[in-house]
Amino acid sequence: MAGRIPQNFIDDLLDRLDIVEVIDRRVPLKKSGRNYTACCPFHDEKTPSFSVNQEKQFYYCFGCGAGGNAIGFLMDYDRMEFPEAVESLAEAAGLEVPREAGAFQEPPRQKKNIYTLLEKATAHYCEQLRSHPQAQRAVDYLKQRGLSGEVAKAFDIGYAPPGWDILLKQLGQSDEDKQLLIDGGMLISNEEENKLYDRFRDRIIFPIRDNRGRIVGFGGRVLGDDKPKYLNSPETPVFHKGKELYGLYQARKSNRSLDRLLIVEGYMDVVALAQHQITWSAATLGTATSTEHLKRVFRHCPEVVFCFDGDEAGLKAATRALEAALPMMEDGRQAKFLFLPQGEDPDSLVRKIGAHAFTRLVDQATPLETYLFDAQSAGLDINSLDGKARLSTLAAPLISQLPDGVFKELMMDSLAERTGLSRDKLNSILSKHTPPAPANKNRAAISPASTQPKQRQAQDKWEPPEVTRNPVLYAIGLLLHQPKAARGLDKHIQLDTIDNNHAALLLAMLDLLGKRPNSTSAMLIGHWHGENWGETLRTLLQMDQLIPLDGMEEEFIDTILMLEARIKHRDIDRQVDKLSASNYADISADEKEQLKLLLSSKHSK
Ligand code: UTP
Ligand code: MN
Repeated sequence: MAGRIPQNFIDDLLDRLDIVEVIDRRVPLKKSGRNYTACCPFHDEKTPSFSVNQEKQFYYCFGCGAGGNAIGFLMDYDRMEFPEAVESLAEAAGLEVPREAGAFQEPPRQKKNIYTLLEKATAHYCEQLRSHPQAQRAVDYLKQRGLSGEVAKAFDIGYAPPGWDILLKQLGQSDEDKQLLIDGGMLISNEEENKLYDRFRDRIIFPIRDNRGRIVGFGGRVLGDDKPKYLNSPETPVFHKGKELYGLYQARKSNRSLDRLLIVEGYMDVVALAQHQITWSAATLGTATSTEHLKRVFRHCPEVVFCFDGDEAGLKAATRALEAALPMMEDGRQAKFLFLPQGEDPDSLVRKIGAHAFTRLVDQATPLETYLFDAQSAGLDINSLDGKARLSTLAAPLISQLPDGVFKELMMDSLAERTGLSRDKLNSILSKHTPPAPANKNRAAISPASTQPKQRQAQDKWEPPEVTRNPVLYAIGLLLHQPKAARGLDKHIQLDTIDNNHAALLLAMLDLLGKRPNSTSAMLIGHWHGENWGETLRTLLQMDQLIPLDGMEEEFIDTILMLEARIKHRDIDRQVDKLSASNYADISADEKEQLKLLLSSKHSK
């Protein structure tokens, strides 16, 4: 191994493969309607909720949320790294995997060298924070967020100054080093122009350490309100976003023994908590908490407390965390749930109420057993027979995911008590009842509305899923399911990507489809594999039920037209604001004329 696998090859490979064959060889599939199904290989279940869609070339499990294309399946099922999975699929398809230039080193050595180079990059960014002419802006920013130099040092916080090739010049002298910087995710190569440039520019840098303290990647935050707020290292041979927890290493270092770990969402949350002597937190890197994360945590401490925002997204994240935690709950381990007041994150809250009060909130977090029953009984009248029956069918499949042990027994007893059903009866429900849709789908960031009359969560009123409220996401979803819809757009579309990461993704998809009009859904997902955008696309796979079978292309075009109209309107508003903000007397006749025109074009809408 060494050089990167060209994206083109991956696209071609996915195009040639049939995911049904790939999976069927490992997990026998049964045809059912438009899809193929099986019991999910990624979680324990008795009735199949794992489904493979041949047309779109991806799989999805409604039980545990696993999903992806053929490569992703192999990675998860055969526990392979990305390049290995590609090699294996290519071999089966009789193809040789090409590698981009730079294949000059043995793999173990290459990895070792990436670590060394990332360590150097960390030192470089820290040095820039001290001495770059523009560093004062970064220092001021960190101070304004309440961080001391000491904490910044404990987390090796640094600064990537503005400029396209500062790191490149500093650390990429030889071709070898350049290649390592590319492999480590520090440089971006623009293949068309044959140019290399720094990934992180004018950002505060948060180095990410793995369990052993090695630097494996970085998060970079803008100093202001630009988007994207954070850039992260891509997946590399040493960095796997879905497994690492930011701050876990530092937490272990600061505590002789970790009694509990608070899992939060943001880099800044971890650092701000440490600033307040709460040195026992760690953050996922923009992904949901996974079983993989929890494996790492439970190796070092017996208790996790998940911390969520008190909003809808927080509740969804909590359901995912619950499902990731269930199979890990061996006797002696504890998981708790803490919901923060609306609008607060740990950073803002600890600054407001102080470490003592914050720690008390953590002390009072809801234990998993309570949370599980509360969440499942939300919206049910559990005094009624019907409510009890529903509760048993919702909670039993969750409890069944607990590893065998005293805790599981106690949970089954508790369910029996709450529902008035005997343990025998509950066991028989477990063995024949299909986990009903709502229990499983609430977890999803975007849940198909049509199959779900009422979202059963601890909230007052049901809201339509985000995707139906956000036209950009909706357009992305439509395009993902029907890539050829892009052909219906005969011109370059204008979208405001400045404050909208989703719009940027939509444009990137259109761009890709312009170059490769025959791309399939799986190829789109494969293209952004391991990046935030890939995650967004994966989530959108679940839109399946929301999307009409017919008329997808028209729906897509309509959505785009609506978006464009909306932006035009907003542009006009902006210009009008700008012109009318100046003193009317000061503006020239020309400008007055322009203002009139703008206003009339606005009113004619
Ligand atoms: P938040 O927006 O909650 O981050 O996103 P934060 O740490 O509280 O940021 P501040 O307080 O505004 O500085 C939570 C996490 O999601 C990921 C990052 O890991 C971030 O810490 N994220 C967020 C991204 O990767 N990219 C983004 O553009 C935004
Ligand atoms: Mn924050």
